[in-house]
Amino acid sequence: MNAQHAIANLPEEDDLFLLLRQLDVAPEASQRATAEALGISLGRLNAYLRAATEAGLVSKTQRAGPDKRQRFAYALTLAGAREKAKLVDAFLARKFAEYDALHAELTGTSSKFVPIKHRTELVQNNLAPIPELYVSYESAQKLKVEAADLTSHDLTPRQICDLELLMNGGFNPLKGFLSEEDYNGVVEDMRLADGTLWPMPITLDVNDKFADSVELGQDIALRDQEGVILATMTVTDKWVPNKAREAEKVFGADDDAHPAVNYLHNHAGSVYLGGPVTGIQQPVHYDFRARRDTPNELRSYFRKLGWRKVVAFQTRNPLHRAHQELTFRAAKEAQANLLIHPIVGMTKPGDVDHFTRVRCYEAVLDKYPASTTTMSLLNLAMRMAGPREAVWHGLIRANHGCTHFIVGRDHAGPGKNSAGEDFYGPYDAQDLYRAHQSEIGCEMVDFKHMVYVQERAQYEPADEIKDKDNVTILNISGTELRRRLAEGLEIPEWFSFPEVVKELRRTKPPRSQQGFTVFFTGFSGSGKSTIANALMVKLMEMGGRPVTLLDGDIVRKNLSSELGFSKEHRDLNIRRIGYVASEITKNGGIAICAPIAPYATTRRAVREDIEQYGAFVEVHVATSIEECERRDRKGLYKLAREGKIKEFTGISDPYDVPQNPELSVETENVDVDNCAHQVILKLESMGLIAAE
Ligand code: PPS
Repeated sequence: MNAQHAIANLPEEDDLFLLLRQLDVAPEASQRATAEALGISLGRLNAYLRAATEAGLVSKTQRAGPDKRQRFAYALTLAGAREKAKLVDAFLARKFAEYDALHAELTGTSSKFVPIKHRTELVQNNLAPIPELYVSYESAQKLKVEAADLTSHDLTPRQICDLELLMNGGFNPLKGFLSEEDYNGVVEDMRLADGTLWPMPITLDVNDKFADSVELGQDIALRDQEGVILATMTVTDKWVPNKAREAEKVFGADDDAHPAVNYLHNHAGSVYLGGPVTGIQQPVHYDFRARRDTPNELRSYFRKLGWRKVVAFQTRNPLHRAHQELTFRAAKEAQANLLIHPIVGMTKPGDVDHFTRVRCYEAVLDKYPASTTTMSLLNLAMRMAGPREAVWHGLIRANHGCTHFIVGRDHAGPGKNSAGEDFYGPYDAQDLYRAHQSEIGCEMVDFKHMVYVQERAQYEPADEIKDKDNVTILNISGTELRRRLAEGLEIPEWFSFPEVVKELRRTKPPRSQQGFTVFFTGFSGSGKSTIANALMVKLMEMGGRPVTLLDGDIVRKNLSSELGFSKEHRDLNIRRIGYVASEITKNGGIAICAPIAPYATTRRAVREDIEQYGAFVEVHVATSIEECERRDRKGLYKLAREGKIKEFTGISDPYDVPQNPELSVETENVDVDNCAHQVILKLESMGLIAAE
């Protein structure tokens, strides 16, 4: 049958429209179901399908499976979608004309309806621009001036990441920080109040004091950490969230071992504000500017290159050979182009910093074909929420114009819970994603766990190796890689690229060359300072790294001279010590801290700050309060008993005994040198000091 003849056999306009619409909404339906939906016989449907296929409006593909009656699947082609849009426009134009005629008949005037224009260029869903929350450049200039008078909220690093993706459409369809109703829907059923799928609460948490200063209906300015106004927000909602419920529902357990639950309880403010955001300017980034793209920039890039199908690879780790093989395979499987889309916002505490990672990615990028692969950096603050996070990532990638998304084993996993077990099952993320795939609008390519088969010198999916018992399967886990880096051991060529290993070794020298912090805690007079001094001398004798002692008493004379002993002041004091120690650790030095540090949550916060850069060794100087009082070197206990010193730790103020310190030292009947030596032995066992 020639094309001319086929077109002649096409159904009438209205029937053609109904056919195209039906194939658009239910491409997988059987012919019988399609015929029933259209109210026509199977014979007629087949004639229509034949003609539409010949005319290039419909594509016909072979279906897998034994059912002979369902051998073929029919779907709209791009020309078919265009034809359908044209028919809709023609129909509406006809109806408008009829309405206009009626209007003129009844009123004597035209309805002034603008006649609809044909949509000649139909852009694919993943390539059309998506809405952003920014105002125009001119309005932004005006708004900036007006916003200077508004009450300001200084955004936290995580809120800056969230705001950037809200404003640039990465979190489309959100129009601002969640309202209470949306928040409840998201927490309970992963849905906004209007039913739209959205798995992650995007909330503006603030402290009580700030919340009290804001009225509903008020506009506030949102500033970055340098005070630059990025956006304004109209506060429509203000509420105190049930954080335990949020933790249970969103992260699966109210357990502080989960990084996002820890953030929720120990970092996030106690009140949430919700409301629409008006974007003024993007947060400023000075690093890797050419590698950062908004969703619309990526969409237009894909459009320009004619990339209809794009599979995104999300990562927060350096890429090694297994990842490269996996991404190659995923792209081949989906017959798609590849977007390496690493996270540079916030990842799991302890991850390799993004500067190092991006240098590693750049080193690997030229191993990919440039015509089908690109890389872009995503300033997302991850929550490590496993299954929910995977769905969220998919929605974000759909917004960035991707049609496919790789979901691996234990996607965005948070590590072990406080009982030492995994928070989620290894394939929970894939299951949840699969269940919501059509709503996400980005197809999942499930990650095959790739292992190296030595005899064949190649990576293969573990579950596809048939001759497992006859070949040597090699694999290096993330933990093993960290160990090898920390101990300066060999990292084989089959595992990674020499350029990547070199880069990692540069930023992660062996532990014995890294900075670290020893943090003594204990009652006043427990012996912290004395042991700390002895330790300092021993470390200086060894040499190699600069050593700084931040003793409680000395810090209070310098860094914290204006502070007293209320909980607030003690916390501030410890946070200051922690900050200085983290800087020392980051720059390869040894910080020895010796404050009382009575509060466990504050010690934990300092640990987190420092562990980003090096080891944190908590040493509990476990001298009992009775012994400290008996010694009473400074005569302070006597004064505390007499009520002349208030809020005295152990007497009239609390002390949280460390639950899991790296080391606990008893000082009764043990001399100082021995106590300091116990610390040295601990440091040695942790690989922090080693023989030259
Ligand atoms: S904290 O809680 O960590 O901020 O305390 P810190 O900075 O280590 O300061 C403790 C030293 O201050 C002296 N001092 C007191 N300690 C505890 N409670 C009260 N109310 C108090 N008032 C003064 C005391 O000498 C502590 O010194 P150390 O070195 O611990 O003996």
